[in-house]
Amino acid sequence: MESTQAGQCPAGFGKTALADMSLSNPAIGAQPTAFYQAMRTEDPVHYDDKLGMWLVSRYDDIVTVLRDPLTYSDKHGYAAQYASGFFAEFKEILERDGGGFFADAIKDDPPGHTRVRRLLDKAFTAHRVATLEPGITRIITDLIEQLADKAAGGQVVDGVNDFAIPLTISVICEQLGLAQFNAGKIQRWSSAVTAQIGRMQNREQMLENAAQICDLQNFIIAEMKAREAQPREDMISDLVHATLDDGSKLEFGEAVSLVRALIIAGNDTTATAIGNLLFVLATRPEVAKTLQESVDDDRLMNRFVEELLRIEPPVRGLAKMTTKEVELGGRKLPKDAHLLVLYASGNDDETQFACPRDFDLNRSNISKHVAFGVGVHRCVGASLSRMEIKVAAREIVRRISDIKLAIPVDQIRYQPTVAVRSIEKLPLTFRRRG
Ligand code: HEM
Repeated sequence: MESTQAGQCPAGFGKTALADMSLSNPAIGAQPTAFYQAMRTEDPVHYDDKLGMWLVSRYDDIVTVLRDPLTYSDKHGYAAQYASGFFAEFKEILERDGGGFFADAIKDDPPGHTRVRRLLDKAFTAHRVATLEPGITRIITDLIEQLADKAAGGQVVDGVNDFAIPLTISVICEQLGLAQFNAGKIQRWSSAVTAQIGRMQNREQMLENAAQICDLQNFIIAEMKAREAQPREDMISDLVHATLDDGSKLEFGEAVSLVRALIIAGNDTTATAIGNLLFVLATRPEVAKTLQESVDDDRLMNRFVEELLRIEPPVRGLAKMTTKEVELGGRKLPKDAHLLVLYASGNDDETQFACPRDFDLNRSNISKHVAFGVGVHRCVGASLSRMEIKVAAREIVRRISDIKLAIPVDQIRYQPTVAVRSIEKLPLTFRRRG
């Protein structure tokens, strides 16, 4: 979240200054609003020299890309991004120590994508997600009560590492059927996988991350083997034994990649959103007040979740690649142009969202944001994460008040990756409601 005042627009930079800027610059990555706005105004499909990628910044162009998955390939964009600069060595390590290199089955293009996607859609229907709400509410209230005890003892609480991360890890592990999970390990595995699309790791970090991913895959493979022999009532068993709509079975490597994707995608992103929720409550007292007054109004709570995802989308940018020469946003792109689709800039586009830095629960188009993407690759876990965020917001507001940052706002640090914008640590103080 940035310090730009509500309704104020940052000054444009001009094309020349833009040419010197990069999303890989940690200062810009941490506070990117002005950069996004300058791109949208001056150079909407902008070549970031240091990243070697075309940044797609305007809402309309983003939607054009996402609605045409054959021209803008997810599979090739992702592959070109993955373990960038170290792919051959990374793959060799996984084949040697991690049971194999398993390409992400869900990051395929249609029709391969359609085959696997139908299976995941069935696992995350809105109806199934609704049945999970009571269990998730229990996980959330237990965690809030633990935090409230800590805060009552005068301790500063970390909203990200003591709350958001353990919460989302518990939820996804329960879904997958991983009762005996080690939250610290899952967090390290998640960061290691996310770093592969983050474009910021050096070789030493790649080696460390590859070792973590080997550990993750060996864990997943052991869990899958146990269910091959003896199915249980959980999502890993469903994937191991799944028959697809075309009558085919998932290959073992495809199933490993799907379990891996669910552990990671279901964890980091929602945890980031819940960290952002706490940040908003701590820094925008007027929003905290409205939420407190409306906590029993389900419609308003839903709108709150949408506006939170719009104003601070956890996934800021993912890669696609052109499969032919094409014109986008007035720019001719060659075949194999590597794009970074900036969902975060789309959500900030003033031609779609008036005063985009205002947290406005009355927007007429509040659900038009692209935080979950659009089209065939639209987030599988959108219903689940919306529910998690809503329950977290509701129970936080019911149980605690006076949430405040325990450090100055300019000391908040973000994970160094171009794919997500996640707060690293969020020291907070608050009071338990009497
Ligand atoms: C606030 C939380 C979340 C956000 C912001 C988010 C965002 C996204 C985005 C932007 C995409 C890519 C869309 C595209 O390619 O254009 C995506 C895809 C995906 N998400 Fe999420 N996600 C969240 C939570 C989850 C959860 C909880 C799960 C699973 C339990 C999940 C699983 C997936 C999967 C499997 C894909 C790939 C879908 C495909 O390519 O067909 N996500 N998500």
